[in-house]
Amino acid sequence: MTKDQQPTTTLWSGRFDTAPDAAAFEFGASFRFDRRLFEDDVTGSLAWARALAKAGALSADEARQIAGALTAMLERGRAEASFIDGPDEDVHSFVERLLVEKLGDAGRRLHTGRSRNEQVSLDLRLYLRRRTPALQRAVAGVVDALAAQAAAAGDALMPSFTHFRPAQPVLVAHFFLSHAAPLRRDFARLAAARDEADALPLGSGAIAGTAYAIDVNALAADLGFARIVDNSMDASSDRDFAATFLYACAMTMVHLSRMAEDFIIFCGDEHRFFELSDALSTGSSMMPQKKNPDPLELVRGKAGRAIGHLMALLTTIKGLPTGYNKDLQEDKEAVFGAEDTLAGCLAVVRSVVNGLTLNRAATASAASGLLLATDVADYLVGRGVPFRRAHEIVGALVRTLHQAGRDFESMTFDEWRAASELFEPDVVARVRPGASVEAKRTPQSTAPGAVAARLADVRQWLASL
Ligand code: ARG
Repeated sequence: MTKDQQPTTTLWSGRFDTAPDAAAFEFGASFRFDRRLFEDDVTGSLAWARALAKAGALSADEARQIAGALTAMLERGRAEASFIDGPDEDVHSFVERLLVEKLGDAGRRLHTGRSRNEQVSLDLRLYLRRRTPALQRAVAGVVDALAAQAAAAGDALMPSFTHFRPAQPVLVAHFFLSHAAPLRRDFARLAAARDEADALPLGSGAIAGTAYAIDVNALAADLGFARIVDNSMDASSDRDFAATFLYACAMTMVHLSRMAEDFIIFCGDEHRFFELSDALSTGSSMMPQKKNPDPLELVRGKAGRAIGHLMALLTTIKGLPTGYNKDLQEDKEAVFGAEDTLAGCLAVVRSVVNGLTLNRAATASAASGLLLATDVADYLVGRGVPFRRAHEIVGALVRTLHQAGRDFESMTFDEWRAASELFEPDVVARVRPGASVEAKRTPQSTAPGAVAARLADVRQWLASL
């Protein structure tokens, strides 16, 4: 049978007196994309054959034949991707057709007591359990790159922003670690998604369970599942685990997108805080001066896709009546699409972060000036002034300086005294970006000791993985 031929029999042809409409068959087929589940489908079938034999539904000889044929198929499929191809409706039909072609009736016994409804759920759960750790490792790879930049930045200062207006000085290291923190949450979210997928659906049958004495706990142990599902009716249409995975991917993409946006801005001519490596920038076909951050823009753009995959699946499942419905076939392209998008973005973001060069002069000069106003107010609070009153005094001072195009560092001591009698000569040393970060006291702050401790924690976490 060549791949452009429609199979003359389907898994359900006994019920019908005509062959399926070619276009409708093609429309309903999922083999084009669910071939990615080949390994999982065979793994699941190997375990199912063992369970059937234990239940007395297969003879020991048939079970041996099935195991041999499936193992050979798995090896061939792993070695030769083009082998996983044919006119079949889906990967389950493909595997079964090959088995029957090879073994005849022994192959025809494999589907005893089993439904594709539970099989497809099993395959997707096995797939996510197998593939999610690679995404987690890639997330950790970006965290590693951010930690390396944080370490390299040392005591370099930069401005932080609120409302995208300069706010307070921070360590450049603190900024890098501010992007590591959400990625560590994403890592945990992916782990939780993997755990949610880690339940055996086999034994659910098409919806009501199975009439064969399958020891599902032994089968779960055989396939390495942490537990079995609670309810066969729920299991036949539960795709919560896929949605949880898509949420973890979408959230990670949101974080990568926001990081990309920060670097697009901070590498731009207006800031020049960092320089993008040439290898990860693009030029313009017309404007010779341009150095564009295309990879970062694409990461930002692709976040839309990942969010879209989550929305698509939630929308697909929201109106389904209990039990398997073919709508659920839409889950796979969402899962694979989100996985591919995230994997690609994590790799490129890691390279971009590794390739950044810090422009210390630019970040230091931008970290100074009127964004020290909070430190001036804190100085007065230290002299007993209520904070609201200090805020007013400093606000008036900022207004005067701003109008004159000046900042605190240009002020003479007489000028400080004119603003308030409470200023002493030490105000000059205290109102500096370096002093501002050193004055912070909390563990999550930009104080150099706190940042060093957080960096050590990130490194310890990376080493523990
Ligand atoms: N290709 C199908 C899917 O992805 C497999 C399950 C088919 N089950 C069925 N009753 N038609 O959902």
